[in-house]
Amino acid sequence: MGKKVTVVGAGFYGSTTAQRLAEYDVFDTVVITDIVEGKPAGIALDLNQSRPIEGFETTVVGVTTGPNGEGYEAIEGSDVVVITAGLPRKPGMSRMDLLETNAKIVRQVSENVAKYAPNAVVIVVSNPLDEMTALAQIATQFPRNRVLGQAGMLDTARFTNFVAEALKVPVRSVRTLTLGSHGDTMVPVPSKSTVDGKPLREVMPAEQIEDLVVRTRNGGAEVVALLKTGSAYYAPSAAAARMAKAVAEDSGEVMPVCAWVDGEYGISGVYLGVEAAIGAEGVKRVVETDLDADELASLKEAAEAVRAKQADIATM
Ligand code: NAI
Ligand code: 2OP
Repeated sequence: MGKKVTVVGAGFYGSTTAQRLAEYDVFDTVVITDIVEGKPAGIALDLNQSRPIEGFETTVVGVTTGPNGEGYEAIEGSDVVVITAGLPRKPGMSRMDLLETNAKIVRQVSENVAKYAPNAVVIVVSNPLDEMTALAQIATQFPRNRVLGQAGMLDTARFTNFVAEALKVPVRSVRTLTLGSHGDTMVPVPSKSTVDGKPLREVMPAEQIEDLVVRTRNGGAEVVALLKTGSAYYAPSAAAARMAKAVAEDSGEVMPVCAWVDGEYGISGVYLGVEAAIGAEGVKRVVETDLDADELASLKEAAEAVRAKQADIATM
């Protein structure tokens, strides 16, 4: 049977994710939902009319959902659900300022996903990301491997782009890695970063690497400060769509994602940014990589910061 993916939330992140997923032409159906009357249907109509030009056959369906789960029947049979519902940041706000508002939204959405798409893999993108991912698992009661969050793909792409721009090399020459939280305790990993196979530390001075690490950590805020009315969505949607495609194709591709960590790196019992093989069951396995002592210490610090916040969300 053909694959079906749902994107909950038809804002900037959701609509661009739906577009990317439809243009891959690997799904039968992309469902996009929102609570705003008409908006998802309008986006679906518009995207379907791009099919003859872009040359894809995937059908996009747009549905407005109600406060008591009205409309959620449309997501039945989804293999993957991407949750983008929630407020984005405004200039000066931290992702954590969104916690209470978005927790209510993500809980309500997750409960409906559990009811109508009980076999789906859930990819959370709503902020604050690590906490909303943990909340979606609690609210769906899905096995932990079937609930993951998108952050590491985006943060890694930002780091890679900054390095490529600084060295004036193609982005494809650069490999970087970013672990930890999608917040202040993000852990860009220079020891695992390379340029044409050479260690980043051999081709870039330490102070410049540190500048780019800091810029990566502030990558979301830098875009928010320029846009003024919302947060980034082109790179974020590229990241979430790739994850959904890896699930649909059961590719086993190793990606930095927010996943449940159970012993890896000596860390247990927390959703955290790590590398993982992604496939039909969500996270197939967390992939542990060698880190420098200071990077490992930072990852453990991130785990404790996220753990403290994730403990609060169970009651939200
Ligand atoms: P947006 O404001 O453009 O769209 C959010 C949409 O969610 C709105 O259309 C709204 O009507 C909808 N919504 C609200 N409650 C809903 C509900 N109960 N059910 C369905 N839809 C609902 O915001 P944008 O830019 O699309 O961002 C969405 C979220 O993604 C924000 O929380 C933002 O912080 C987060 N984000 C996360 C990133 C990551 O790397 N994890 C990167 C960028 C954004
Ligand atoms: C980003 O990193 C705001 O989380 C969002 O762009």
